[in-house]
Amino acid sequence: MSGIDYSTRIPNNVDLGGDRTLQRALEQWQPNFVGWWREMGPDGSHNHDVYLRTATSVEADGWAHFDYVKMPEYRWGIFLAPGAQDRKIHFGDHLGEDAWQEVPGEHRANLRRIIVTQGDTEPASVEQQRHLGLTAPSLYDLRNLFQINVEEGRHLWAMVYLLHRYFGRDGREEAEALLERRSGDADHPRILGAFNERTPDWLAFFMFTHFTDRDGKFQLKALAESGFDPLARTTRFMLTEEAHHMFVGEAGISRVIQRTCEAMNELATEDPARVRAAGVIDLPTIQRYLNFHYSVTLDLFGADESSNAATFYASGLKGRFDESRYEDDHRLHGRTYDVPEVRDGRLLPRAVPLLNALNEVLRDDFVDDSVGGVSRWNKRIEKTGVAGRLFLPHKAFNRRIGTLAGVRVSPGGEVIDEAAWNARVDEWLPTASDRAFVASLMGRVVEPGRFAGWIAPPAAGIDRHPIDFEYVRFG
Ligand SMILES: [Fe+2]
Ligand SMILES: [Fe+2]
Repeated sequence: MSGIDYSTRIPNNVDLGGDRTLQRALEQWQPNFVGWWREMGPDGSHNHDVYLRTATSVEADGWAHFDYVKMPEYRWGIFLAPGAQDRKIHFGDHLGEDAWQEVPGEHRANLRRIIVTQGDTEPASVEQQRHLGLTAPSLYDLRNLFQINVEEGRHLWAMVYLLHRYFGRDGREEAEALLERRSGDADHPRILGAFNERTPDWLAFFMFTHFTDRDGKFQLKALAESGFDPLARTTRFMLTEEAHHMFVGEAGISRVIQRTCEAMNELATEDPARVRAAGVIDLPTIQRYLNFHYSVTLDLFGADESSNAATFYASGLKGRFDESRYEDDHRLHGRTYDVPEVRDGRLLPRAVPLLNALNEVLRDDFVDDSVGGVSRWNKRIEKTGVAGRLFLPHKAFNRRIGTLAGVRVSPGGEVIDEAAWNARVDEWLPTASDRAFVASLMGRVVEPGRFAGWIAPPAAGIDRHPIDFEYVRFG
């Protein structure tokens, strides 16, 4: 099962050739996908030769092959991580039963919804990022953008395979619809809010890949626990690709910070206006972008109290992050979990049934994971001797989903009224002039080894190549 068959039109390790009907259905979807890519994929990129990795096995070591590829010819394939023998469902009300190899009828609608919701995010992010190639700060960064884009395309393939293979006609219809919705479109938007926001510049891109791809990691980790074995195996392999996306985000922000702090030291100033005049992004603007992307991403975890979350867990469809690290009964009935709510003008914990709070549990795992990235950024600042620090805003800040929607909370966690919010929101979230300033720095740098002035070079190149390697050849 682990070898990938590249001789067929659709590379796969799922013995697609053994199921002619399925193979034909996916081969009919394939040109529609490529049509979508040509229309909504990276702007003006279709003739570039890009140094990309392509999955060639699902083994932990050496699963990827690097070479120059024109992106519309990228070999998007269907890869499942190896299955475990006699795998059992290890949480929820079916605990101890055999994992499902086919969709159980009673859970069919919920499973389809989970797969479609995950699948929809993948092309959405490609659409959100489609103009960024025109303002890439270096060939190295351009290549990383394209790598992420083709892999999000592959993640769409992963979900479409499940829809075609396991959901019959409505699965095929959902697969078509995944190519028809458009990020930010008023009539046919993508399903989730954060995936309809714009990603207008590279600071937003790095924040997106750091925070929003990290939401992807947590969703995939929860689905990798699924009692529906094909979903668990698919998402486990997707996670190997996701790690690079988050690396691009964290390292990207770190490199931006590096240049900013160097300029602050050269000028011996903390004044944002003087820092900006030096052509780098001031720390308060970086903080506002962070506040925006972090809070919008927190909403992706869904309502803090959710009967769907309870159903997905109890049914064995979606587990907790690293389910097996918990030493509890993995059924969770009769337990509670604290979610925040506003009472008497303050944020106070309210105990709700744990099963209904599983979105909040996953969100809190994400918060814990996000702390690490920010502290690594702060270490970078500290090393330069600059006094400023970045921080994560309170998880109740700027929320639009769940109990906290419509409540005004400062980044420090203080409940405030509308007037106080309006008076200070420009300190907390990116303003039009912040975005205009960042946009003014965005210019295309395409000479190998050169980098835009607002971002430091990376520590190392890709696939052991030097930083000045020609990662993209323009055609
Ligand atoms: Fe993805
Ligand atoms: Fe991703």
